[in-house]
Amino acid sequence: MKLLVTGGAGFIASNYIRHILSTYPDYHIINLDKLTYAGNLENLKDIETSDRYTFIKGDICDGELLRETEFDAIINFAAESHVDRSILDAQPFLQTNVMGTCSLLEIARQRGCTFLHVSTDEVYGSTTEGAFNEASPLLPNSPYAASKASSDLLVRSYVETHNLKAMITRCSNNYGPYQFPEKLIPLVIINALNRNPIPVYGDGMNVRDWIHVTDHCRAVDAVFHNGTTGGIYNIGSRNERQNIEIVNLILSIVAEKFHVEEKVLTNLISYVRDRKGHDRRYAIDPSRIEQEIGWKPDINFEDGIEKTIEWYISNKQWWQRILSGDYMTYYNTQYGERLKT
Ligand code: NAD
Ligand code: DAU
Repeated sequence: MKLLVTGGAGFIASNYIRHILSTYPDYHIINLDKLTYAGNLENLKDIETSDRYTFIKGDICDGELLRETEFDAIINFAAESHVDRSILDAQPFLQTNVMGTCSLLEIARQRGCTFLHVSTDEVYGSTTEGAFNEASPLLPNSPYAASKASSDLLVRSYVETHNLKAMITRCSNNYGPYQFPEKLIPLVIINALNRNPIPVYGDGMNVRDWIHVTDHCRAVDAVFHNGTTGGIYNIGSRNERQNIEIVNLILSIVAEKFHVEEKVLTNLISYVRDRKGHDRRYAIDPSRIEQEIGWKPDINFEDGIEKTIEWYISNKQWWQRILSGDYMTYYNTQYGERLKT
């Protein structure tokens, strides 16, 4: 099986590639990634020399490149993924998340190959009661969420019109190793370690539903093998937390590990102006994937967050090279292209 994984240098897909290579000895992964600011080939250092792994620097919008590339199936992780950036400039979100998905759907249609589209619970918008299921209406609130909802609808249209064997997964908030430090959990860990201010948006009471990245990767793989054409599968681990609760939990674990008074770290918390259109609460009902596919999460949040903190403590160089910008030169040293700037 030659699997085209898009966005493989990002947080979730790099974890996914590692998971697939160690699970299936006969799989070959082709990682197609544009290497935007969020793409970091250092996430894949340990597997980059595998003869079952090929990296291609390229854009999912590039139809010609897709036609030149051989593969049997597509797992589409590539996206502009950060809500705050979509508020500042929606354009790249539409380009990659919508137009890019369209190019991939086209090549999948021409080749008749399976297409798994990795989407998000943010397409459902915000809810005060209950949890989103797959029949919940699409009510995206941020430009990021709107671009993901648009791509989900495009996938649906290729199933209905062209009978493409495509599936959609919609996962809740991920955490774990290799997450880019613009996202809440790595940001809080790193700022606590560096004793920098920890920005909490609004009143800190917004709720997210957290899942460990490895559980998400296992779920995507389970849907790839056992999902039905046109199937939509919510992925979550029934783990709702207020942001401030997450922040305090991280700070208490860091304080304990470094034998510092918790107050020293909680003093770093800084309530800042709220995100525009900030969704109040996400909650995912994963009953369908549990009942129809037999997937369930393995990692309990308290264990997962402690291991994640330990990972960031042991991999200081990984995030320091992101903060300094040095990670961007890795491609050039490994793959021989000269830096343009
Ligand atoms: P990320 O921002 O860490 O990584 C995105 C990757 O896509 C980067 O390597 C980037 O270089 C690449 N990319 C961007 N534009 C590209 C293009 N035009 N062509 C090729 N590659 C391109 O993202 P992530 O957090 O790992 O999210 C991966 C996917 O999972 C996204 O589709 C996102 O919507 C979805 N998702 C994320 C979460 C989460 O909590 N992070 C939750 C649910 C769903
Ligand atoms: O729900 C799935 C989504 O989760 C994915 O589709 C997105 O790609 C991913 O980025 C994530 O979106 P969020 O906006 O929920 O994640 P973020 O880490 O940016 O923020 C989590 C919560 O923490 C949110 O309520 C905003 C808040 N926050 C975030 C940052 C970066 C803060 O309070 N302070 C911060 O500095």
